[in-house]
Amino acid sequence: MAAPFTVLIMAAGHGTRMRSDTPKVLHRIAGKSLVGWVVDAAREAGADRVVAVVRAGDGVADGLPEGVECIEQREGEGTGAAVLAAREAVPGEGAVVVLSGDQPLVTAEQLDGLLAEHAERGAAATVLTTDRIDPAGYGRVVRDGDGHVETIFETKHSEGLTPEQLAVREVNLGTYAFDASLLFDALDRVELEDGESYLTRVLPVLRQNGGTIAAHITDDADAAIGVNDRAALMAAEEAAQRRLIEEHARAGVTFLHPGTTRVEADVTIGRDTTIGPGTVLEGSTTIGEGCEIGPHTTVRDGTVHDGAKLIHAFVLEAEVGRGATVGPFAYLRPGTTVGEGAKIGTFVEVKNSDIGAGAKVPHLSYIGDADVGENSNLGASTITANYDGQKKHRTKVGKSVKTSVHTSLVAPVTVGDRAYTGAGSAITKDVPDGALAIARERQKNIEGYADRKEDSQK
Ligand code: UD1
Ligand code: CA
Repeated sequence: MAAPFTVLIMAAGHGTRMRSDTPKVLHRIAGKSLVGWVVDAAREAGADRVVAVVRAGDGVADGLPEGVECIEQREGEGTGAAVLAAREAVPGEGAVVVLSGDQPLVTAEQLDGLLAEHAERGAAATVLTTDRIDPAGYGRVVRDGDGHVETIFETKHSEGLTPEQLAVREVNLGTYAFDASLLFDALDRVELEDGESYLTRVLPVLRQNGGTIAAHITDDADAAIGVNDRAALMAAEEAAQRRLIEEHARAGVTFLHPGTTRVEADVTIGRDTTIGPGTVLEGSTTIGEGCEIGPHTTVRDGTVHDGAKLIHAFVLEAEVGRGATVGPFAYLRPGTTVGEGAKIGTFVEVKNSDIGAGAKVPHLSYIGDADVGENSNLGASTITANYDGQKKHRTKVGKSVKTSVHTSLVAPVTVGDRAYTGAGSAITKDVPDGALAIARERQKNIEGYADRKEDSQK
């Protein structure tokens, strides 16, 4: 176990290149804010405190995960000013890890490696670096003959930089471990450049003071994705998807077409489940074991139990029971529970309803605000009229009921256990257990109608 350490996340500022009303670090990849990813990595690495630097009124404080402390950067511009703002908030000694709120894919393993290197070298500062990406625009790392870091220079603006400087491939990932007892006094001595204080400029100062600057180099270039604009946001989303889908795959999930599948960060999926093309799993969705999800299925904040099958389905805040089937072309809306082994079929919409175990709603139905008992079968185009224009009412359908095609259940209404309805019935009154309810005009046949019509048109 590493010694306790504080993580400081630089998360202030709007990020104007995002061209957005939302502050940069609150943009999301795989459904989780950029800064949320960074917080999770810090906690997974064992940080005992996570402190975020924000600007007053930038809205970031409200978007942070629970338990993250917030301090405001009131003075100065730049990453150096961001860290200085935290002077009073971090302990005066031990290691402080400084992360960038816009580098979402830094991992706990990388932070472990950074801290181990930092301790091993007895360094004043240790920088996470990589040489596995196009270095354009990144801060570049200059090492001395012993492999220690001399300095980092910025390359956002390349004028005045020599070809040798621009040939440096090792870049700064904006992820650091510092000896807290040396950091802040050294930062006081950093000079402004273009009105900004660069955190990277603290490294030569620490070195002048006799400290060692170490670098921990990583091959995982995803951590290098710094989201400064929406093109980078896309790259981060893609990398996050690759990472998440690979994790699920290693845990026993089959993805038939990962390139068209999107799985958000908080989704859980059981083993031996197969995810088909065009499938989107979002929010707090939980999928059980041995399920078949997709093709072309979306589940948002839903729960799907073991062995269920969803084909061309859209499921929103609804629960699908063990072994149940949904779709193709079905829409489950909030508050719906589909019981074990039940079937929701083609062109069916269900809202705020309880569909009992083994019940079937196979074709062309709207079931809203209803409780449907076990093993009932709602014939094609059975519809609940749940709304009288002012209020919604519930429909209760008992166990083992069989409604015939085109039944309208006009709520509030109750259909008893084992009851039947006739085709085309508009059921407005309760139906007793075991009864057949027919509620439609009797058919009348008018003989010779066609002949008479033709005669009249002559
Ligand atoms: C920074 C590094 C660069 C590194 C790159 C990695 C500096 C000077 N440069 O550049 O060497 O290669 O990250 O992606 O540090 N922030 C504040 N307050 C501020 C300014 C920024 O909190 O006043 C936060 C931002 O919200 C952001 C992070 O600090 O999350 C990094 O700032 P940014 O301006 O994106 O730095 P880069 O130019 O990307
Ligand atoms: Ca950045």
